[in-house]
Amino acid sequence: MLEVIILGAGKGTRMHSHLPKVLHPLAGRPMIEHVVATASRLSPENIHVVVGHGADEVERALAQYPLQFHHQAEQLGTGHALAQALPHCHLQSTVLVLFGDVPLISTPTLQALLSQVREGPGVLAAHLSEPSGYGRILRDDDQQFVRVVEERDATDSERRVQEVNTGVMACPAGVLSRLLSKVGNNNAQQETYLPDVLAVAREERLAVSVVVSHDADEIQGVNNRLQLEALERTFQQRFAEQLLTDGVAVADRSRLDVRGQLTCGYGVSLDINTLIEGVVVLADNVQIGANCVIRDVSIGPNTIVHPFSHIEDAVIGADCSIGPYARIRPGSRLGPSVRIGNFVETKKATLGAGSKANHLAYIGDATIGEGSNIGAGSITCNYDGANKHHTQLGDGVFIGSNSTLVAPVTIADGGFIAAGSVITKDVAAAELAVGRGRQRNIADWQAPKKDGE
Ligand code: UD1
Ligand code: CA
Repeated sequence: MLEVIILGAGKGTRMHSHLPKVLHPLAGRPMIEHVVATASRLSPENIHVVVGHGADEVERALAQYPLQFHHQAEQLGTGHALAQALPHCHLQSTVLVLFGDVPLISTPTLQALLSQVREGPGVLAAHLSEPSGYGRILRDDDQQFVRVVEERDATDSERRVQEVNTGVMACPAGVLSRLLSKVGNNNAQQETYLPDVLAVAREERLAVSVVVSHDADEIQGVNNRLQLEALERTFQQRFAEQLLTDGVAVADRSRLDVRGQLTCGYGVSLDINTLIEGVVVLADNVQIGANCVIRDVSIGPNTIVHPFSHIEDAVIGADCSIGPYARIRPGSRLGPSVRIGNFVETKKATLGAGSKANHLAYIGDATIGEGSNIGAGSITCNYDGANKHHTQLGDGVFIGSNSTLVAPVTIADGGFIAAGSVITKDVAAAELAVGRGRQRNIADWQAPKKDGE
């Protein structure tokens, strides 16, 4: 039986932040959530999380997962943190210890470690060319494991060791709890160091398996923002590489950021500086132009999003053309073959098949039928300063340029609005509405002159 314990009680002083360290986002999700997701893939009996600093916030952030939380009131070290959860594990379980601040650890690596663990503990190590900050693995002349020394407690020659403790460890629960009870806090930080259980095991002649990970990226811990940024780049690079492998035409793997869940059909292309957030679904042949931000959106086949468009919480149909410089706001529902051009903003707006707003318009709280055309500079006045009102347009409606539709207002099928109109009354089917001052031309007009001329 497998049980996982994730340590996440630390403050993360080196982040210089009010947010508990393990809640800092990596690829749009709290870093500890990546660890929880990875642990879940091992189908353990239980996942325990040790919380302390910002415990409520951490518990809230992980509320959708079936987890057992344990409180570490004072942060007295990783060994002390483990001791808060270990008594809640079944004695016959194998316990896998993960750190909430080592977010990219992968399931196959954990399986490799677990496969080595029998009656003694096993630890995951790695060779780093830049090992500073990590505990070092010390071995004897026969290359047998001796103990882990923390950087703060290490001598200069020990600090030159490049084999590091990743923090990931596995051990039968009963053995682990016996070993842990023998660990003191006689060290630079006066803390109970979890890796010291390995030294106790070795003193007791218990076999300690050291499994070496050859992936220097997945074992990286996050103690400061530099490391978090580096891991974010690693994550994004790998994600982009996977997309490319799957056939998505990513223009530049270093200029794509996916902070959420992206699903792509066949023939999708993503130009440079695309930012994807939340849940985004792109159907076959969707093209996303440069510098677009797309959050919680589904886009139908063959639709082209031109550069610098911002799309949020929207459903876009097939064969549409969006942007450049379009802003599609929450609640927008665009049917097939809709065209939204530059500097057009939509919000809570439904546009039927083939309708167009090609330039400079605001369409808010509106339902528009099929094949209607909104001219440049036209807007729905949906807000009267207190309440929002709806605008309803039928099929084949034509809104001349620079018109103002004062909601609530309805324009029936084929309604035609003359350019520059302020529309305050409903327009019936096939009516022309002109709502503007008449033009007067005054002959022989003398333009004003400057004083004294
Ligand atoms: C730890 C290891 C070090 C290893 C490195 C790998 C110890 C003593 N050191 O160092 O050997 O190379 O991780 O990344 O274990 N935590 C608690 N309660 C505490 C202290 C820490 O829950 O009282 C949690 C933290 O939230 C964090 C994890 O344990 O998720 C590691 O703690 P941290 O202080 O970051 O340890 P490191 O100095 O990185
Ligand atoms: Ca750490």
